[in-house]
Amino acid sequence: MKNEIFNKFSNFKDFNLSDIELYKYKVAEKINFLTIEQREEILKKANYNLFNIPSKYITIDLLTDSGTNTLSDLQLSYMMLYDESYAGSISYERFIDAAKNFCNKEFIFPVHQGRAAEKILAEILTKPGDIVISNTHFDTGFAIYKHFKATPINIPTPYYKDEKYNFKGNIDLEKLEELLKNGNVSHVVMTITNNALGGQPVELNNLKQAYEITKKYNRIFVIDGCRIAENSILYKRITNSNKSIKEIIHDYTQYCDIFYMSTKKDGIAHMGGFIATNNKELVPKIRQLVILYEGFPTYGGLSGKDMEVIAKGLEEVLDEDYLNYRINQVKFLGDLLKNIGIPIIEPVGGHAVFVNASKFIQHLKPEDYLAQSLVIELYRLGGIRSVEVGYLMYSKDAIMNLVRLAIPRRTYTYKHLEYVAYIFSLIKDNINNLKPYRVLEADELVPHFTAKLAPVS
Ligand code: F0G
Repeated sequence: MKNEIFNKFSNFKDFNLSDIELYKYKVAEKINFLTIEQREEILKKANYNLFNIPSKYITIDLLTDSGTNTLSDLQLSYMMLYDESYAGSISYERFIDAAKNFCNKEFIFPVHQGRAAEKILAEILTKPGDIVISNTHFDTGFAIYKHFKATPINIPTPYYKDEKYNFKGNIDLEKLEELLKNGNVSHVVMTITNNALGGQPVELNNLKQAYEITKKYNRIFVIDGCRIAENSILYKRITNSNKSIKEIIHDYTQYCDIFYMSTKKDGIAHMGGFIATNNKELVPKIRQLVILYEGFPTYGGLSGKDMEVIAKGLEEVLDEDYLNYRINQVKFLGDLLKNIGIPIIEPVGGHAVFVNASKFIQHLKPEDYLAQSLVIELYRLGGIRSVEVGYLMYSKDAIMNLVRLAIPRRTYTYKHLEYVAYIFSLIKDNINNLKPYRVLEADELVPHFTAKLAPVS
């Protein structure tokens, strides 16, 4: 089994040009390899929560694709052109031009990251008791709406588990109409791609219909588009569209009142985000809270350097060579895992491979934190950091129990990904070693970030 992975390229007739890195190193960072015994000690000290492990003890960090991107030489060069003026900097002008070009909206407000946008939107759009509907909220939005005493509800497409269905990021249109008819819905958020359910793409037509239904009931429709470029290349491949990525993104963003994104993802940046709209009534409301919480609206919590990096990143992400490389690399890891019999969410989505932990670990129950148990074993055996998306993150609201292997952009090589698959093959050989865990304590709204766990002996 293990040899199959390592022999993949031994027959050069099988060599595939899409399996070569699109980039070469310019800066090198040494990776640390520890012993299993050292990692066991570290796990104990971290209370079996990988958010508590210092990154110097990690070998391959697949915790998130957010802000972990490798910058291009051009992004670094533009960073040096920064203007840190409080008001109206040149960096702001470049940022605004790039964001407008990206999402095709007139009014743009920078914020320091995605959840800052979520907090501002929650405050503007919701009141206690409101319902906020989504194809699936990601953890920060979910927690923020609860914090504002609203109720976040996830209504993914009923086909979200169907392996032959290409647009598993879609929303359930029937349920959407039912909720809009009967509930106190403040607004609808379409997460593109649908991160919590596998980084799966949303279909343009599903978005259009969801938008039209929402407008029929006169409610606000929001796109959380932090991975909309990845969504667009997946859409282009599935539908054989001839349009450019930018055109496809604009096809999507026409169907919303508000577009926001964390530029730590498809902005290929380390920090940042923005809120965008064409709705003039919303502008003063957003602007006021940006000033209160983030900073003057021409920097919104970002330095000039950040805005330069984002401006260039939003341009680079539209390059199809980049996006094809990105999607191929994620799929490469998915294929390796599939070949050695690890159940994953298929088709593989945009930014991560999601392992179906309930299917993989038959001897444990969700209440045993089975997906977290796999997360812990991946670290113990291989120094790999991943994240649980399941019972620990969402408790009873969990739709599935998954382990997400998020791939930072332009950062790891194909060999690193083969190493990840190799560690999985070791775990598979001794699957019954995976232990149940219990939570000793955790914060109420964001349990997975803070939980202390212990193995059940
Ligand atoms: N929306 C989605 C779909 C996200 O994936 C994230 C962050 C956010 C909003 C919030 O953005 O981190 O800039 O405040 N997701 C990261 C992840 C953390 O690992 O998936 P942020």
